[in-house]
Amino acid sequence: MKKYIYLFISNLLLFIVFPVIRLVSKSFYEKNILPYVLNLSCNSKPVDYQRKKVIPDAIGKVLEIGIGPGSNLKHYNNTKVTSILGIDPSKELNQIAKKRAEKYNLNIEFLIESASNLSVDNSSIDTVVSTYALCSIPEPEKTLQEIKRVLKNDGIFIFSEHGLSPDKSVSFVQNTTDSFYPKIAGGCHTNRNIEKLIIDNGFEFIELNNIYLPGTQKFLGYNYWGKAKVVSK
Ligand SMILES: C[S@@+](CC[C@H](N)C(=O)[O-])C[C@H]1O[C@@H](n2cnc3c(N)ncnc32)[C@H](O)[C@@H]1O
Repeated sequence: MKKYIYLFISNLLLFIVFPVIRLVSKSFYEKNILPYVLNLSCNSKPVDYQRKKVIPDAIGKVLEIGIGPGSNLKHYNNTKVTSILGIDPSKELNQIAKKRAEKYNLNIEFLIESASNLSVDNSSIDTVVSTYALCSIPEPEKTLQEIKRVLKNDGIFIFSEHGLSPDKSVSFVQNTTDSFYPKIAGGCHTNRNIEKLIIDNGFEFIELNNIYLPGTQKFLGYNYWGKAKVVSK
């Protein structure tokens, strides 16, 4: 019963309420609703559980791309991490992240910029982190090339992302909703093949896992997580 109530409410919001509000006023939706919806969905229990699986492995000088509201901050191990540079183009999410960062003892700096054009030196980063960001970044290929450029030779790329499902019925929903879903979800494409994107852009996996997030609609919840390293520069 609980499952059906969740499905009814989430479908009502995703397919009717949010599109209508955005249609009436795009700027109102993007300033006053979207940042809070993203903050809420990014902090759901299953998503937080995924964060815990990857973030504690970050070491040294860390670059987190698309840091958003800073939901990973609580999971960094400050005895292993020397500094964090969090980048994101959203000023509204940056405000939430800055407030959140005050609670943790981390050496952290924020930059408002795009991950596809980073103002970070070549081969200067030990760990790049990306969680639920490659779905929303307009140029994921360029971003992965940037990640490759800034990582040290022995650096690691840590990720937890959602994307294209291998199941035909789910990928059908992902592909058909892609004409409007990104408009109400901050540019989030649920149908990106994260595994292929990472490999095609010069990385090899140290570890790759997949799961449907529990308690999450399947078209939103096909999760890829793990670690990768650069094949060659
Ligand atoms: C679904 S949110 C995820 C936020 C955060 N990574 C997390 O795990 O909660 C997607 C994020 O990607 C960011 N984003 C969109 N375009 C971007 C770009 N070009 N470069 C970096 N981040 C971008 C958005 O502002 C947003 O913060």
